[in-house]
Amino acid sequence: MEADSGESALARLEEQPADIILTDMVMPRMSGLQFLETVKKLLPRTEVAVMTGHGSIETAVQAMKLGAYDYITKPFSPLEELRLFLRRMAEKVRLVEENQFLRERTETETELHGIVGASAKIQDVLRMISRLKDTRTPVLITGESGTGKELVARAIHFRGSFANSPFVAVDCGSLVPTLIESELFGYEKGAFTGALKSKPGLFESANGGTIFLDEIGELPPEMQAKLLRVLQEKEVRPVGSNQKVKVDVRIVAATNRDLESAYRNGTFRKDLYFRLNVVTVHLPALRERPTDIPMLVHWFLDRYAPGKPVEVTNSAMKCLLEYEWPGNVRELENCVERAIALGDRQVIDVGDLPPALASALPGGEPAGAAPVFTTTDLEDIERATIQRVFEQVKGDKAMAGKMLGISRATLYRKLKRYNIGTRAAASAVLQ
Ligand SMILES: Nc1ncnc2c1ncn2[C@@H]1O[C@H](COP(=O)(O)OP(=O)(O)OP(=O)(O)O)[C@@H](O)[C@H]1O
Ligand SMILES: [Mg+2]
Repeated sequence: MEADSGESALARLEEQPADIILTDMVMPRMSGLQFLETVKKLLPRTEVAVMTGHGSIETAVQAMKLGAYDYITKPFSPLEELRLFLRRMAEKVRLVEENQFLRERTETETELHGIVGASAKIQDVLRMISRLKDTRTPVLITGESGTGKELVARAIHFRGSFANSPFVAVDCGSLVPTLIESELFGYEKGAFTGALKSKPGLFESANGGTIFLDEIGELPPEMQAKLLRVLQEKEVRPVGSNQKVKVDVRIVAATNRDLESAYRNGTFRKDLYFRLNVVTVHLPALRERPTDIPMLVHWFLDRYAPGKPVEVTNSAMKCLLEYEWPGNVRELENCVERAIALGDRQVIDVGDLPPALASALPGGEPAGAAPVFTTTDLEDIERATIQRVFEQVKGDKAMAGKMLGISRATLYRKLKRYNIGTRAAASAVLQ
């Protein structure tokens, strides 16, 4: 694309950004330097090279300082020189982009440390975390008990650019109602009996960072009103004080209650609800994403029996897969911990699981060592898991192996067995 002045080039760039730009220095109205500066602001990743006449090395240097890729002196002879120059420039843009892509990918990889799951639902959550971690947007995390709300709140804080600032978690459900205000906002000396000296509240302690208001649905109505005011005014007034203190705190709230119906039936303030709920991250119940169960089981086995490969029999895994998990991931974690503590630390079989799980087995009879079912279900799950991870990493086998926690050789074997990653499968992914 071509343009005859800096202004018209900018107008066209706004509609259609370019990767590389070659600009003259001496132009009517807007100079090459001004143009360069504006482009760098508008499209920071676009590379701009400048053309200078002989003897104008000074402007060339100035252009470099403003972030130009390079300069080339006119006239270009032979033309081949210009062609090579532009090719190198395009190559740089490509490398930078590739680098960015790799960096984003490593980020998702590290995200897997801590929040385990390959299901589409949990991957959505990870993507949300990535998007939110460097912002100050209020976030409301919803989900049943044990689905990982606190884990996600911490991930939003500790994986982002505010990781070095404070993270303060407050369990609104367990605070004594009469003390909530002084806990959150602090108090002055003498504000009440026992207030021997003044104390900053949790909001002040979280200044510059994140306050995690867990079980926000449990907050009594008058505290909801006070919290709303703090969010609006960005300042707190310690109990017994008439001075307000400025606070800059990012709010992450969590609830396992249905806050929407709570505000509809009047038990939760609607205005507060909308303040907190700028973005919602919903954590799916474990029974909605059973394909994550095998991965979670291995994750917890590794945590509770590190370095010792513990085998889970097919019947035990089947029980784990079929159970409803009302306590979600926390219940699964407890279940694995218990099996390790009570079992022989080599094999986990149905007998090592809590009775509620063992009786969930179809037919009601506890399975012995002999499998009472075919392995098809497990294979389906395995296939689905591998397929999903494979799609996610766009066919990068080394990465897929790492994410699945299996060796490269095993991965190759499984890919072949399930016919994943063949040409047909790959093109299906690309659509
Ligand atoms: N996707 C996950 N991967 C690994 N561990 C998880 C995952 N989700 C939850 N956990 C683990 O499960 C346990 C419960 O998680 P967490 O405390 O974050 O849940 P919660 O939603 O806050 O529960 P509650 O509503 O009961 O407070 C924690 O030990 C956490 O590390
Ligand atoms: Mg919690």
